[in-house]
Amino acid sequence: MKTSCKYLRSSLGKKYLMAVTGTVLVLFVTGHMVGNLQIFLPPEAINRYAHFLQGNLELLWPVRLIMLAAICLHGWSAVTLWAENKAARPVGYYGNPTPLAASVASRTMILGGVVVAAFLGYHLLHYTVKLESIHGAPVWFADLKTPEGLPDVYAMIVAGFSVWYVSLFYVLGVGALCLHLSHGVQAMFQSLGLRNHVYAPCIKCAARALAVALFLGYAAVPTSVAVFGHGKAHLNEIVQKAAAAKAAAGELRK
Ligand code: HEM
Repeated sequence: MKTSCKYLRSSLGKKYLMAVTGTVLVLFVTGHMVGNLQIFLPPEAINRYAHFLQGNLELLWPVRLIMLAAICLHGWSAVTLWAENKAARPVGYYGNPTPLAASVASRTMILGGVVVAAFLGYHLLHYTVKLESIHGAPVWFADLKTPEGLPDVYAMIVAGFSVWYVSLFYVLGVGALCLHLSHGVQAMFQSLGLRNHVYAPCIKCAARALAVALFLGYAAVPTSVAVFGHGKAHLNEIVQKAAAAKAAAGELRK
């Protein structure tokens, strides 16, 4: 135990930890995008999926805890490695502060990570905690219910992205995530010792293709709602039903 803790605190151990936690996060982000694309199916599809997850706490909580641990360990190893590198080379390479081969993504890994963390913080308050004061939509997420009285996640997503600046923020957030990922996936292979000069071009190509696919998949959701009005008819129907139910409850109380 003591030896493995010592290994994880070494530079090599931290690089390994970043690669393993990065793999977990990439798998989650890919699965989550596929789940979100159900917004392009009838509302029952994404609602069924969300109710399945919300109703299986023995599945939901282990996944949440693994994700939380992966995010914390990934952030901790990134920041400590960055600080160690900075301390070892405080003034950079004289006359050539950034190596020529460094891409925008590789030079902005720490900044990109902070932006993605901030985006994730907002996203969790927006759709998981459903904090009504931060979404800017003219409806209450808590009022959006299916005929069975369960949360209408489809209507909630449409209501959330009907606010143009929230949609724009999401597109920029997932843009930052995908830029971060395009370099991160290549670094992951390097840290795991799976990248050599033969495979490097393929890994680079695959990492960029994955980043572009994730960007298009994620950005399609806010864009389709904010620009093309996707799902608005369903949202209007649910809002009208909620208003009618509230009015009827008010009548009953009189
Ligand atoms: C257009 C983009 C996205 C949409 C529409 C979306 C949608 C959602 C929704 C509706 C939930 C709540 C699920 C529920 O409680 O039923 C959720 C939760 C979550 N999302 Fe996203 N998401 C998007 C992008 C992202 C990205 C880019 C990440 C990662 C960086 C992410 C990470 C998470 C996490 C960690 C949760 C919490 C899961 C839980 O424990 O309940 N999402 N998302």
